[in-house]
Amino acid sequence: MISKDEQKVLAARTAVDVLVKKGRIFSGMKIGLGTGSTAMPAVKRIAELIADGTLSGIKAVATSFQTTLACEEFGIPVYTMNDKAIGGTLDLAIDGADEIGKGNSLIKGGGAALLREKIVAYNSKAFVVVADESKAVENHGTKFPLPVEIIAEARVPVVQKLEKLGAKCVLREGVKKAGPVITDNGNMIIDCTWENPVDAAKLEDTINDITGVVECGFFTKIRPTAFIAHSDGSVEERS
Ligand code: 5RP
Repeated sequence: MISKDEQKVLAARTAVDVLVKKGRIFSGMKIGLGTGSTAMPAVKRIAELIADGTLSGIKAVATSFQTTLACEEFGIPVYTMNDKAIGGTLDLAIDGADEIGKGNSLIKGGGAALLREKIVAYNSKAFVVVADESKAVENHGTKFPLPVEIIAEARVPVVQKLEKLGAKCVLREGVKKAGPVITDNGNMIIDCTWENPVDAAKLEDTINDITGVVECGFFTKIRPTAFIAHSDGSVEERS
């Protein structure tokens, strides 16, 4: 039996190695790099493959300050989506997830990086998520709270509208920082749970239509390939 942390590393490293073998991670490509404790070992594995000469000319777009710092530390060249070298689209994005539902719908944003993660994922030709087995769920809404990134000035009206949609809302508080979490984009996060499972595809649009919402953490418009590591040491590739 392997621990959750070991599963995260196993899923991440296996995914990168399989994708390199299949030619889906390749030299010269434009790659989106995710955020969190499962995405980081994937970033590290890509750096190792650059260092040993397997990969070259990789152009990365980072989804957070955490990932930018990791790329700087590991020597992976970082660009923005707007740089000419990237031109607004990526070949592939690899990231973690908080929930992987049936059909690989996702909840993301546990690390408050959902906005840039979605910009990167939704503008990539392919999307891959890496996760330990605890992330696989039957449905969304009742377990991991859905993060909603909001403009601070709109907090009260947005919460009222989310509550009308049946959500219980909690303003995310900082750790080792008094007051709310401020995202990499200068916004706040409302974490939402429901008493019963919700239709993620429908709610992604409904929530994003609320004035003052910047983005929500449902990812239903691009369905990733998921590499899910299990406690028995196996890795399932779920498309
Ligand atoms: C950050 C994310 C992460 O991918 C998600 O929270 C999973 O994190 P971890 O791999 O640390 O469990 O969406 O905004």
